[in-house]
Amino acid sequence: MSKFQAPKGVSEYFPPNSNQFEYVRKQLLRTARLAGYNLIELPVFEDTEVFTRGVGESTDVVSKEMYTFEDRGGRSITLRPEGTAGVMRAVIEHNLDKGQLPVKLFYTGPFFRAERPQAGRYRQFYQVGIEAIGYSDPEIDVEVIAVADSAFKALGLKKYKLNITSLGDSISRDAHRKDLVKYIAGLKLDEATQVRAQLNPLRLFDDKREEIKTAMAKAPLLLDYLNKESKQHFETVQGLLKNIGIEFKINPRMVRGLDYYTGTTFEFDHEMLGAQSGIGGGGRYDGLMASLGGADVSGIGFGLGVDRILMACQAENSLPAVINQIQLFIAPITDAGKAAGFKLLAELREAGITCDMAYGDRALKGAMKAADKSGAKYGLVIGDDEITTGNCELKLMSSGEVISSSLDASELIQKIGK
Ligand code: HAM
Repeated sequence: MSKFQAPKGVSEYFPPNSNQFEYVRKQLLRTARLAGYNLIELPVFEDTEVFTRGVGESTDVVSKEMYTFEDRGGRSITLRPEGTAGVMRAVIEHNLDKGQLPVKLFYTGPFFRAERPQAGRYRQFYQVGIEAIGYSDPEIDVEVIAVADSAFKALGLKKYKLNITSLGDSISRDAHRKDLVKYIAGLKLDEATQVRAQLNPLRLFDDKREEIKTAMAKAPLLLDYLNKESKQHFETVQGLLKNIGIEFKINPRMVRGLDYYTGTTFEFDHEMLGAQSGIGGGGRYDGLMASLGGADVSGIGFGLGVDRILMACQAENSLPAVINQIQLFIAPITDAGKAAGFKLLAELREAGITCDMAYGDRALKGAMKAADKSGAKYGLVIGDDEITTGNCELKLMSSGEVISSSLDASELIQKIGK
């Protein structure tokens, strides 16, 4: 065992797996870009209050899972457990909501939650997220869901399901809360659970303990309390989803792990991932900006778990067999070949051809072995003969087929680039 190990429960990627990770993240980002979202790059730590206020004290994320520490100036700092609160902090601070609306932003990076590690649940994990701020029409809810759905489709995923519900507006939530609190008051609960229920009674729907599940089986459901506007909004969302062929299930007991949600909320689950099946989730958070000291501007977004989506792609075997393949591997077998090869590398790379070379002294056999091991599409041996004649043979490594070319960079680029 090596002297040092990575901290417990973090996800790490190195070749060849990191190529798949990179591919998955790129596809997710590409879909956000295609829908007109722009990058927002933020710090991985924020003032702790951004999360206690933004995400909510009743959540496990805030009460049990934050990496919080005092910085050298005595300020309380927290490693971001999620992206939305920080994005809102930045939107308010830089007045991003004062221009054209909606503001459409995407982000990616590591997030930190001190959870009990298990397959698919890490203490440092990766998300790709989008946020659409300042537009409250149901169309944008559907756009956000559709972006996630097309990202999954772009990765070839099939075995996932979309669950949606609505948490309504504040009038609907207040009406429901009154009855729910009454219902919960009639249950026998331990003190910690009572405290949680006081902070946010909806949390009890999310409790994994059998006795609480049974106790909550007859609890009043928020969906039955939606007022006219909230109902209409949710129905439009459903209609639009059907129109564009996105299948969904309404799950009135779904509770997201963060307290800022209002209106439409959703989660995507993958069938082959076992206990940690959530590959992405999100929803509206119409009061969040105001609660962080900004204007009362609405928003909706999602966070997709890159680690889990990679696992889902591996389970479905949906990724291309070869990712980030080196196009050409040069194997020089003489000093003159080395010099020529080195010059070619620079020219080919400048032209956008991915290439590498065997360094050190190698005989023909060793050089070809290195070309084989590199996984490159083409191999090219350069010895004194090639230098003298100016001609060479590109070998297609998969079949052994040989293509004649001159050693001239532009001809090679043309032949390899095809
Ligand atoms: P979330 O549901 O807490 O939402 O996280 C989004 C996704 O991140 C999850 O569906 C899951 O795939 C992944 N994830 C969460 N925790 C872990 C973990 N410990 N290990 C591995 N993957 C994990 C949010 O974070 C919201 N900020 C999403 C959002 C954006 N809502 C509105 N805008």
